[in-house]
Amino acid sequence: MDIRRVQERILNLKKEKDFCILAHSYVKKEILEIADKTGDSFKLSRDACDIDAGNILFCGVRFMAETAKMLNPQKKVYLANGAAGCPMAEQFSPEELKGLKKQYPDRTVVAYVNTTATLKEHCDVCVTSSSAVEIVSKINNDKILFIPDPNLGAYVAEKLPQKDIKTVNGGCPIHASVTGEEAAEAKRLHPDALLLVHPECLPEVVKQADYVGSTSGITAFAKNSDKKEFIIGTELQIAESLQYECPEKMFYPLSKKLVCADMKITTLLDVLRVLEEPEKGCEVVMSAEEIERGRKCIDEMLRLGEQKKT
Ligand code: 13P
Ligand code: SF4
Repeated sequence: MDIRRVQERILNLKKEKDFCILAHSYVKKEILEIADKTGDSFKLSRDACDIDAGNILFCGVRFMAETAKMLNPQKKVYLANGAAGCPMAEQFSPEELKGLKKQYPDRTVVAYVNTTATLKEHCDVCVTSSSAVEIVSKINNDKILFIPDPNLGAYVAEKLPQKDIKTVNGGCPIHASVTGEEAAEAKRLHPDALLLVHPECLPEVVKQADYVGSTSGITAFAKNSDKKEFIIGTELQIAESLQYECPEKMFYPLSKKLVCADMKITTLLDVLRVLEEPEKGCEVVMSAEEIERGRKCIDEMLRLGEQKKT
């Protein structure tokens, strides 16, 4: 079937069946084109709170669909492809976290939103890459246990030297695959370009960057900058999308390794299938108790996000 015909069919079916499609900016272009809302994890969490349609179809990875479900328990939430997980979100079991909490009983447990719903149950506050520095700065305890991304944790620690931030091994295997030498080489190859990187990258990469921010932050920075060339240190889709949106500028991927297979596993036909036969789709099913326990740390992030800094 022709790709445009599939897109048209999706657009008709989503209206007919009362679906809203949310897509993370790392998914394929043909999916971003048919989504109602696109963006980074923080924007999508906010968007998920404010949806009129009765059903949400999430194109991204499982923890994001779980977050949408916890924020919208009355809606049916489907993950477009049930195999789309996030290795970082799944790297810890609740038992391992319970062990860490015993080891560090006086620390506030801050969870990157890239964690499973069951892990979130054991955390105090959630953060996204765009909200992490602000949220941690507002926590009423200087001792923090930051899970699961040590690279984002190191970035927050660097920005907030007044906080004592303990991190653990792990992180995003995609962003953390890029080395400091590769960043230096990219800068050597493109001397006029600014290096924009995601804080999931290694500190040796982050320290060479001209701008560090979430997916949406990188996108906004590149669009608003007067500069004409950028090296993009996050998933390849961002460099591609920026190149379409700003054809007068040049975007170079920091590394060809920056491809998230989990984000790319969802196809347009997966989206179509769920809309045609939702009963066969991968619905996120959580009990009311699981939702209540899992969303406490998300609510705390949203509450702290709204709080003025004292
Ligand atoms: P953001 O969406 O917060 O930029 O995070 C990127 C990411 O890796 C999502 O899994
Ligand atoms: Fe997980 Fe990394 Fe993929 Fe984001 S880019 S979904 S953190 S593996």
